[in-house]
Amino acid sequence: MDKKTLVEEIKKLKIEKDAVIVAHNYQIDDIQEIADMLGDSLALARYCASTTNKVILFCGVHFMAESAKILSPEKTVLLPEIDAGCPMADMVTAEALRKKKQQHPEAIVVCYINSSAEVKAESDICCTSSNAIDVIKSIKEKDILFVPDQNLGSYVAKMVPEKNIILWEGYCITHHRINPTEVDKIKELHPDALLLIHPECKPEIVEKADFVGSTKQIIDFATENSCQKYIIGTEMGVLYKLKKNNPQKQFYLMSPGLVCANMKKNTLQSIYESLRDNKYEITMDDNIIRQARKSLDRMLKI
Ligand code: 13P
Ligand code: SF4
Repeated sequence: MDKKTLVEEIKKLKIEKDAVIVAHNYQIDDIQEIADMLGDSLALARYCASTTNKVILFCGVHFMAESAKILSPEKTVLLPEIDAGCPMADMVTAEALRKKKQQHPEAIVVCYINSSAEVKAESDICCTSSNAIDVIKSIKEKDILFVPDQNLGSYVAKMVPEKNIILWEGYCITHHRINPTEVDKIKELHPDALLLIHPECKPEIVEKADFVGSTKQIIDFATENSCQKYIIGTEMGVLYKLKKNNPQKQFYLMSPGLVCANMKKNTLQSIYESLRDNKYEITMDDNIIRQARKSLDRMLKI
């Protein structure tokens, strides 16, 4: 099928199945064009908790579709490519977390939303890159075990110095590999551009930023600011909305390596097949849903 026909078929199936398409800001342009809701992890979680459609077709990675299911267990949640995972989320298991908790029985466990349902079920509260500082500030205890992203954890530790944050050694394979020399080079090439960086980058990269935020916060910052040039320090998928919202502004990707292969697995063809064949349906143990929901609900109340 050509692109136009595929899009028409997807639209028909959406009506027939009462489905909504939600997509993360890192999805390919073709998907961002047809999504009913586009956003960062927090915006998508909030949307999935409130939508009334019977089916949520999630264009993102596995932990995001799982979070949608935890927040809307009565709905059918579909992920078009079942092996679209997040390597960072796989860097912590529930079993390893249980062991670490025994070493720090006094600590409150904060899990980044980039984690499995089982890890969320072992955690006290969840956070995303857009609300991590507020989540940490909302906790009255001093000791916090932060999993799995050491870079987001380090950023939050710097911004909330009154807390004792124990870091897990996980990282995003896409953001973590950026090195300071390539950032300095691109800054030299565009000295009048503002540098907007995702907190999944290493601390030595984040400290060079003019603004640090989630994908949505980066898009909003560049859209609302009067500066005409930006170096973008997150996955290249955000360029779609940045350019759409700001056709007159210039955007430069901080590094050509800022591509998440997992986020690029979903396609129009796999969305079509997903809706047509109800695949791949996200299912989880009821107990895990109940426990994981507590940490997500606690976050959403903030
Ligand atoms: P946000 O869209 O919440 O900033 O998340 C980035 C990310 O890497 C998701 O996997
Ligand atoms: Fe995971 Fe990084 Fe890809 Fe986000 S960009 S899904 S954190 S690997």
